[in-house]
Amino acid sequence: MKTKPLTVANPTSKRYAYRISKEENRNQLKHVAFANNENVNDGDSKKNDKQIIDLPKKKFYRQRAHSNPFSDHQLEYPISPDKMDWSKLYPRYYDSNLKQMTKQVTIADIGCGFGGLLVDLSPEFSDDLILGMEIRVQVTNYVEDRIIALRNNHKAENKYQNINVLRGNAMKFLPNFFYKGQLSKMFFCFPDPHFKQRKHKARIITNTLLSVYAYVLREDGIIYTITDVEDLHQWMVKHLDEHPLFERLSKEWEANDKCVSIMRNSTEEGKKVERKKGTKYIACYKRLPNPV
Ligand SMILES: C[S@@+](CC[C@H](N)C(=O)[O-])C[C@H]1O[C@@H](n2cnc3c(N)ncnc32)[C@H](O)[C@@H]1O
Repeated sequence: MKTKPLTVANPTSKRYAYRISKEENRNQLKHVAFANNENVNDGDSKKNDKQIIDLPKKKFYRQRAHSNPFSDHQLEYPISPDKMDWSKLYPRYYDSNLKQMTKQVTIADIGCGFGGLLVDLSPEFSDDLILGMEIRVQVTNYVEDRIIALRNNHKAENKYQNINVLRGNAMKFLPNFFYKGQLSKMFFCFPDPHFKQRKHKARIITNTLLSVYAYVLREDGIIYTITDVEDLHQWMVKHLDEHPLFERLSKEWEANDKCVSIMRNSTEEGKKVERKKGTKYIACYKRLPNPV
């Protein structure tokens, strides 16, 4: 199969200039708590008090649709969860007197893409810290810029402090970030289908990976899956059904769960499928207790 050659960054292009200016913004504001009146880890926030930051434009963050999860992406990850500095992602939840976080991440959106689910979950789960994990650099940058803008533009209401994104390969390093039983919900929304049989091993739900997800999920924690690819849906259902630590939740449960209705329409892929009037296949599973 022919692949498109990678376009080399053109320093005179509009996209290049846009990316550079956003990167400068990101470097300056990424870890800022956007305090309005008080100065909490505020960097230059006074300067930005009245300034509205434009939401990022997707066209400037284009990247190949797929990233090989088996490549060495030179990703940064902590050697263990206690070495992870979450204060940078959620500065509002860092107690500088106690020198510790006041909350842990409990909800993860795996392969969060452009971050629509994070943004919609934020007000619904204002007591939780929610993390998107995304492997593609430009897509992660987009979500970071989106959250910087939302936090800045809603600082009076203190909104969007509980969401953030991390560039990472969810197939490799989850136990480096999360303790055993830390998460209450994991979302797998419209994961890459990897249609060809020889590529099935790159799918984000496999027997081995499910054991890792079971490790980071607490008992009764939920795995949410949604896709428009029936074959992938069946694959995910088969592997989850076969795994001894997961049990499928009923259609009635799905109908009454607010996350199911949020994930149906809030992600960018979900919206695309909606526009094309495609079918969305959903399956949700509860993490069972470890056998005694
Ligand atoms: C089809 S997109 C769906 C994005 C989003 N969940 C949505 O519904 O709009 C799948 C996303 O998963 C990301 N991804 C694929 N493998 C991943 C991995 N191993 N770790 C983290 N992200 C991954 C891709 O880069 C892509 O953005």
